[in-house]
Amino acid sequence: MPEIRFDNRVAIVTGAGGGLGRTYALELGRRGAKVVVNDIGGAADGSGQSSHAADQTVAAIVAAGGTAVASYESVATPEAGAAIVGRAVEAFGTVDIVINNAGILRDKSFAKLEPSDLEAVLDVHLRGAFHVSQPAFRIMKDKSYGRFLFTSSAAGIFGNFGQANYGAAKMGLLGLSNVLSVEGARHNIKSNAIAPIARTRMTEQLLGPLTEYLDPEQVMPLACYLVSEECNLTHEVFSVGGGRYARIFTGLARGWIAGKGSRPSLEDVRDHVKEMMNTEGFTIPSSINDEMAVLMGALK
Ligand code: NAI
Repeated sequence: MPEIRFDNRVAIVTGAGGGLGRTYALELGRRGAKVVVNDIGGAADGSGQSSHAADQTVAAIVAAGGTAVASYESVATPEAGAAIVGRAVEAFGTVDIVINNAGILRDKSFAKLEPSDLEAVLDVHLRGAFHVSQPAFRIMKDKSYGRFLFTSSAAGIFGNFGQANYGAAKMGLLGLSNVLSVEGARHNIKSNAIAPIARTRMTEQLLGPLTEYLDPEQVMPLACYLVSEECNLTHEVFSVGGGRYARIFTGLARGWIAGKGSRPSLEDVRDHVKEMMNTEGFTIPSSINDEMAVLMGALK
């Protein structure tokens, strides 16, 4: 099988000045992509700003014979999203790949969470991905080619103490990715998400004794494969870390069919909880239409 290449592809990787994003940007650059390395260069809580982080990733790509430019904008505003995509267009003429990876943490238990902690985290993770992806999507739609990768988290998909803001933002990204995969289907635009587990500055205090086995380089191959031309997957989510690569899916159980025109009581519901909860024979809808088809079938 031939090597997977990214020649003549233009990739934007947000938060590529360090951690996971840096590994993606370096590999895409090594495999021929022209890379926009976006990073605000701040602290893990989103405070501060520096050009150093993005610059050193660009320097490493160029030193390895690749092509890259830096972008220092925060993804957190629509203007900055447009500017980041504008940087790709101005430097390389287009955009083919967007890896939404920039992230910060403001962990607090739900009772102690301040509105500012919610806003900061939503701005970077959820709105940030929206702001960068929308102008890129328009370009991709016009040329009928595009690849998106969103960075979700087990903290939202499965839940984690102290991360209500982060978990909500990370689940929101799955909604965004799912809709882009539906809207992009006719235009050869694929959209997927990962929930990574890796040792970075964001997690080094959190991962405990397994830290040494959670190399960011183990996340990189899946992330880069998912934005390659030969990847036909879309609407998918993967857990990736420590050398394990596993699909995460949203299944729809067969459920309890009360019947067409029925008006069940609360007690009827209580008496059928077991059937609603039974996951045997579940399906995995790839759009709302798939779910509606199941419902229509049940109503026949
Ligand atoms: P990291 O802190 O090393 O990398 C995040 C990068 O994003 C930093 O370089 C930071 O400067 C940049 N950034 C932050 N705010 C930005 C903004 N407004 N605009 C542009 N750049 C910005 O952390 P890591 O672990 O590499 O995180 C990458 C992504 O993976 C994040 O979205 C994170 O939430 C997610 N993630 C990581 C996990 C892990 O185990 N490391 C687990 C689950 C999710």
